[in-house]
Formats: sequence, structure tokens, C-alpha cells
Amino acid sequence: MSVTWLSVLLLSSVLEEPVSAQLDSSDKQESAQPHLILIVADDLGWNDISWHNSDVISPNLGQLAREGIILENSYVQPICSPTRSALMASRYPFTIGRQNNVIKPFCPTGLTLNTTILPQELKKLGYDTHIAGKWHLGYCKWEYTPTYRGFDTFHGFYHGAQDYYTHIRTDSMEADHVTTEGTGYDYRNNTEVDFASAGDYSTFVIADTVENIIMSRDPATPLFMYVPFQSVHNPMEVPEEYSNMYSNVTNHKRRMFLGMVTAMDDAVGQIVTALKSSGHYNNSVIVFTTDNGGPNNTANNWPLRGHKGSVWEGGTRGPAFIHSPLLSNPGTVSHRMVHVTDWYPTFVRLAGGSPPSDIDGVNQWEALNNNSLPPARDYFVYDIDRTDALVAAIRSGDYKLLVGDIGHDSYDPQSPGAGHPPAAVNTGGSCKQTAAGGDLPTMQLYNITGDPSEREDLSASQPSVVKDLWLRLQQEFSRYVTKDTPPDDAAADPKNFGGVWSPGWC
Ligand SMILES: *[C@@H]1O[C@H](CO)[C@@H](O)[C@H](O)[C@H]1NC(C)=O
Ligand SMILES: *[C@@H]1O[C@H](CO)[C@@H](O)[C@H](O)[C@H]1NC(C)=O
Ligand SMILES: *[C@@H]1O[C@H](CO)[C@@H](O)[C@H](O)[C@H]1NC(C)=O
Ligand SMILES: *[C@@H]1O[C@H](CO)[C@@H](O)[C@H](O)[C@H]1NC(C)=O
Ligand SMILES: *[C@@H]1O[C@H](CO)[C@@H](O)[C@H](O)[C@H]1NC(C)=O
Ligand SMILES: *[C@@H]1O[C@H](CO)[C@@H](O)[C@H](O)[C@H]1NC(C)=O
Ligand SMILES: *[C@@H]1O[C@H](CO)[C@@H](O)[C@H](O)[C@H]1NC(C)=O
Repeated sequence: MSVTWLSVLLLSSVLEEPVSAQLDSSDKQESAQPHLILIVADDLGWNDISWHNSDVISPNLGQLAREGIILENSYVQPICSPTRSALMASRYPFTIGRQNNVIKPFCPTGLTLNTTILPQELKKLGYDTHIAGKWHLGYCKWEYTPTYRGFDTFHGFYHGAQDYYTHIRTDSMEADHVTTEGTGYDYRNNTEVDFASAGDYSTFVIADTVENIIMSRDPATPLFMYVPFQSVHNPMEVPEEYSNMYSNVTNHKRRMFLGMVTAMDDAVGQIVTALKSSGHYNNSVIVFTTDNGGPNNTANNWPLRGHKGSVWEGGTRGPAFIHSPLLSNPGTVSHRMVHVTDWYPTFVRLAGGSPPSDIDGVNQWEALNNNSLPPARDYFVYDIDRTDALVAAIRSGDYKLLVGDIGHDSYDPQSPGAGHPPAAVNTGGSCKQTAAGGDLPTMQLYNITGDPSEREDLSASQPSVVKDLWLRLQQEFSRYVTKDTPPDDAAADPKNFGGVWSPGWC
């Protein structure tokens, strides 16, 4: 064995020690593994948070961000279930059939069972694992639900959205020209239906659950706490005291939306207070991200172009930070590229384990902590979707290649502030250009570093860059799996389960 390989092996065995053990060798008992707190907001846009927009009232998140590392190039999927599957499985959704859209209530499928997901990996490393909030990765059979997939406890709901107070969800399906509408309750304590939470605003139910878990456990055992809020997804509902904080915002929906951001911020404050008073905080790593860009008409992604559902920056680049007393460079802003698949290997590494080798994420911890080290990644696939015509995007260094018809919508330069959801603006033009001619799909090229608003299409002036990135994208096609969306099944109807959306029909 060469000296080089030996030193690589020695180095990797050092790296596999939990981070806090390296920082403080006097404390190498069971508490050495850090607590991992993963907070996911739903539908929160780039300009919907205080560190990007001072009109937004989010002091708790703002403080965590300011005293941690604000991640200005943190990328997620264009929509919900794909991001959640990337987070849990560290795989690009197009490689496991989870691209294109969310898992709808009547759809008999879930996140593929043939991959070991993050909580399962952390359980192997001795962690207690809990989820409080939204799952949205399948529920048609028990095997798809959180407590069968590595979580010790689950307190929350299966679907993508619901009434914040009643926890009732109505959805419809169409088969053979017959529309079936289903209405049911959707809140669980582990596998049991939890009717006790009916009437309580879910953001605060989630905060109470997390607080109870944290306050009643021993910080000597490492904790993985996954906190996926429904906030600030529609419907627009929030206690009046929060929307009243934005009384000068004239657009009603926007006023409610901003109130919801502030309510979520209070919930985060409650969770951090619990971490501190229970003795967890000093040894914890808190990651915050949105699940996708802000939706058109309520959120605000200014100055990024586009919104939820598109591979424009506004759909895929989200507000995010990492906060921890274990960081060596707190109070900084990082422009390093982070992809949502990266949290899985980063957490497994922090826990002292080795992430699986066949995942798409990379461990970010060392590179985010030390700017002298090379960035953990300079490439990722935003998405590949061939469900209809091909729509795809990849990033390599400064450049982003967009392929197919991405849609025209843009930022509205007139409404950068908190008061308005930006109207979608048709900028026209570039979508119809074909850089390479012939039978190739439409391509656009942007320098995201210099042009984050994606205004200036460089495809005509940089044909060789387009060609290189198109070749690189085509290499990814071999991993493409057709979207896993079997036809809706009326068996899901809650009327078959006592008025509750329930597993047991696929
Ligand atoms: C895992 O499931 C996906 C579909 O969800 C399938 O495409 C893939 O081939 C499966 N992988 C293995 C190793 O079975
Ligand atoms: C969930 O159920 C367990 C017992 O099964 C109980 O101890 C716990 O308090 C319940 N949690 C909530 C949030 O209701
Ligand atoms: C956490 O760290 C702070 C600052 O070092 C210290 O004042 C505090 O006592 C520590 N708390 C616990 C519970 O260890
Ligand atoms: C950061 O990385 C550089 C290059 O490897 C190294 O020399 C330095 O000691 C590191 N700094 C810290 C604080 O780990
Ligand atoms: C509302 O008032 C606050 C406080 O005066 C101000 O900072 C904010 O910009 C105003 N928002 C709008 C949309 O006018
Ligand atoms: C955004 O919402 C507005 C108002 O509902 C609508 O007119 C517009 O077409 C939407 N834009 C896009 C790109 O969906
Ligand atoms: C992208 O734009 C930035 C800022 O203008 C510039 O520094 C960088 O060199 C550009 N990248 C490339 C590859 O041209």
C-alpha cells in the first residue's frame, strides 16, 4: 500500500469521528454526537425572510441565521415531494421516479422503499429520531409512513396541505369520467389518529410537540429532530395577531402570508428555547431550508426569476442557513453551492458514520466551516423531467443550462418589498431561441454568479459552453427513471376509513 493511500485512510478514519469529539477530546462519551435539528419551511420564497427583506418580521430565524452561516446558494427541487425525497434519500428525484409533481392523496405510491433513508441511517448510529409535521412521501400502506421508515415517533400529517386548524383535507380524483371527492381528517400520533389536535393551529402543535420531545429526553443520547412545517403553504390562515403585524400591507393574501412567516418564526423561537433550557443546544446543529421557491401570487422571490414549480432560480434557490455552536466560522455568509441532497451525508458524517456511496449528496461540513478548503461541490442537476417534453437544468460553476420550455415568468422589478407578491411578468423572447439549431430542444444559458435574475441568455454567444453542458446533461439521462405516479385509486377515499385519510389501500 502506498504512503498516499495509507494517509488517505488515516485521514478518513479521523474524519469519521464525530465533530464534537474532535473539537473537545475531553468529552468523548455518548454525548459526542451532535443533535441534528432539520427545520423545513414550506413554500417560503427567497425574499420572504428577514435577512433578505427587512420588512419581514422573523427575529428568531434571523438571529439563528446571522449567528450561523447564511447559505446564499442553497438549492432545492421546484416542488414539495421531490425535495422531501431528495432530503430523505439523498438522490435526485429523477433517479427514483419522484420528479415532476407531488404525491397526491389518491395516488397509490410513496418514496421508494429500496433505499435506506436518513433517519434509518441515523438510527444505526445510535440516534433517537423524531418527526413533527408534514410527511408527504406516501401513506397508502404502512411501510411508506414515518414510523416504518426509521422514525421513533411521528406527530403530524401525511398530505401536502390541510386546513391549519381542523386538519381536514379535501381532494378529488377523476377516473372513467367520474369525479370522486374525498374529505378526511389528517393528523396522527405515530400510527394512531390524533383527534386531540383538531382545532389547534398546526404551526404551534408542531412547536409544542418538538418542545415536549426535547424537554423530556436526556441530551446524552443524540437526537435527530425533523421539523417540516406546513407554514407557509396555502391555505392562507394565521391567528389575527400575526397578520395584524402587517397592517400596512394592503394585499390581503400577502398580509396573511407574512403573518404566517412570523407565526412560524415564533414556533422556531420556542424550539430554540427548549434546546437551550434542556442542555441540547451547545451540542446541536440546526439546518433551516425551504422546500421549494415561493409560489406565484403569495410569496416573493425577488430578485430571482420564476417561482415554485419551475427550474428558474426563483423555484429552486431557497433561503437557508446552518447554525451551530460547533461551527468554526459563525456569523458569516457563504456563497458555496449546497444542494438539498447534501444534508443527508453531512448529518451522517456529523454523527460519525459513513454515508452510502451511491447517493447524490456530498458532505458539506468541512467545506462550509473552512473557506481555505475547496468547495464541496461545483455541479448539480436542478431537475430532469421527461414526463411531457424534456425540461431540465444543470449547473456547473457559474453557468446554468436550461433545456426545454421553462415558461416566461420573471421577477417584477416594481415590487421588491414585502407588501406585494410580485406579478409574473412575461419577458418573452429568449424561450424560443434554439442555441444549437436542428432538432435540439430549446436551450438557455445564464451566468448565475453575475446574473442571478437570469436576464441575459448567453446561449448564442457561448455555444461551446452550451455544447459541453448539454453533453454533461445527456450523461445523466442514463439514470432517468419514469415518474412513479400510478393512476389514482378511489380506495383511498376517507369514507372507507371512518373519515380519516389512512394507510391500507395499496
Ligand atoms: C428502486 O426503485 C426504483 C423505483 O422506485 C427503481 O427504479 C430502481 O431500479 C429500484 N432499485 C433497486 C436497486 O431495486
Ligand atoms: C402520543 O401517544 C403517546 C402514547 O402512545 C403519548 O405518550 C404522547 O403524549 C402522545 N403525543 C401527543 C403529541 O399526543
Ligand atoms: C453552553 O455553552 C455556554 C457558552 O460556552 C455556557 O455558558 C453554558 O453553560 C453551556 N451550557 C451547557 C448546558 O453546557
Ligand atoms: C482550513 O483548511 C486549511 C487547508 O487545509 C488548513 O490549513 C486550516 O488549518 C483549516 N482551518 C481550520 C480552522 O480547520
Ligand atoms: C410597513 O411599515 C413598516 C414600519 O413602518 C415599514 O418598515 C414597512 O416597509 C412597511 N411596509 C410596507 C409594505 O409599506
Ligand atoms: C401568477 O398569478 C397571477 C394571478 O393569479 C396570474 O394572472 C398569472 O398568470 C400567474 N403566473 C404564472 C406564471 O403562473
Ligand atoms: C460570471 O459573472 C461573474 C460576475 O460578473 C464573473 O466574475 C465571472 O467571471 C463570470 N463567469 C464566467 C465563467 O464567465
